Amino acid sequence: MHEGIHAAEADDALITGALDRAIEQIARNIPHFTHVCQNHSSIGNFYPACANDQWTTGFWPGQVWLAWEKTRDKDMLSCALTLVDSFLHRIERKIEVDHHDMGFLYSPSCVSAYLLTGSEKARKAALLAADQLLTRFHGKGGFLQAWGPMDKPESHRFIIDCLMNLPLLYWATKETGDERYRTVAEIHTATSLAWSIRPDGSTYHTFFMDSVTGLPLRGETCQGYKDDSIWARGQAWSIYGIALSYRYTGDSRCPALFRKVLDCFITHLPGDLVPYWDFTFTEGSGEPRDSSSSAIVACGLLEMSSLVDEKTGQEYTCLAKRLMRSLVEGYSVSDPRVSNGQLLHGTYSKKSPYNTCTEEGVDECVSWGDYFYVEALTRLSHLSRLSTAWQPYW
Ligand code: GLY
Repeated sequence: MHEGIHAAEADDALITGALDRAIEQIARNIPHFTHVCQNHSSIGNFYPACANDQWTTGFWPGQVWLAWEKTRDKDMLSCALTLVDSFLHRIERKIEVDHHDMGFLYSPSCVSAYLLTGSEKARKAALLAADQLLTRFHGKGGFLQAWGPMDKPESHRFIIDCLMNLPLLYWATKETGDERYRTVAEIHTATSLAWSIRPDGSTYHTFFMDSVTGLPLRGETCQGYKDDSIWARGQAWSIYGIALSYRYTGDSRCPALFRKVLDCFITHLPGDLVPYWDFTFTEGSGEPRDSSSSAIVACGLLEMSSLVDEKTGQEYTCLAKRLMRSLVEGYSVSDPRVSNGQLLHGTYSKKSPYNTCTEEGVDECVSWGDYFYVEALTRLSHLSRLSTAWQPYW
């Protein structure tokens, strides 16, 4: 494994200070992002507002719920509940919901709201979003299609990120008793784990299935450098996604798969444990990092640490603390004049000669990076207070 895994861990004082700073930043942002949403990424390190029509708009309300859990501040509660109204409106009117990202949208914004306050509007919105996600399922091939029209063979693919959309379905079964949601989640998980993970533990970002036979066709990248490279965030989604799959399914293959994809991620990290946007690139490449990947992996490690034996759990917690120390010390925003985000140096979409990306959010704050950074700090703060574990929104 990489020498960086022996770097210093975040201690309680570092975690407490970083979480307090993050919550102050959230409080400063409330007046600007209550009746509008936060864009997927910053421009010059400052997020502009956007309408509630992107796949990423759930992450800002997720941050507000995390902050409210700690502060019980009435303005935070009011902001987060106003955003629930917006998410209910979006799913009722079906505004930009013809894709699979219902979990990214509705777990941090509405499942959270329901778990924390019992809001019936939030429950309704999240259940409608789960129904919407079911419409993306192909029985033939057994997967949730990521994007594009369902009847176009060239759109017949799933992506590794989708593992993060599945907790919404498990929640919907728990809430309604309707097994359809869980069944679809389990089938998609089996398909995704069978074909997304390469023999060396790296992952394909996207994978095509034959629309006639349902048989696997090929892996391709979308946001990575090229088809056979390792997109850092895809690898991160696989890590947190497998941890959550293990929580919900108890599938005995998950711990070994988790270790395999994690080893691949760790092995490719530069010295400060924050990856370049694609593992093609290393120190001296001049390419941008993706800090959000390390925040996602920290959350995945902390989730998995509670599901495995004590020794392995401690190993995963230590590693999460090392990743977080680097993020807090080298990447987090400590001066609001520099940024209205939480975590600098994320990369959303970087063009390469081999992918089809349009360039957006390169070396910027990204809304999920901010959210998972605050989630990881929240999880760690619960550990350090020796209180009950944080109840995930996922
Ligand atoms: N789910 C898309 C991304 O991670 O950019």
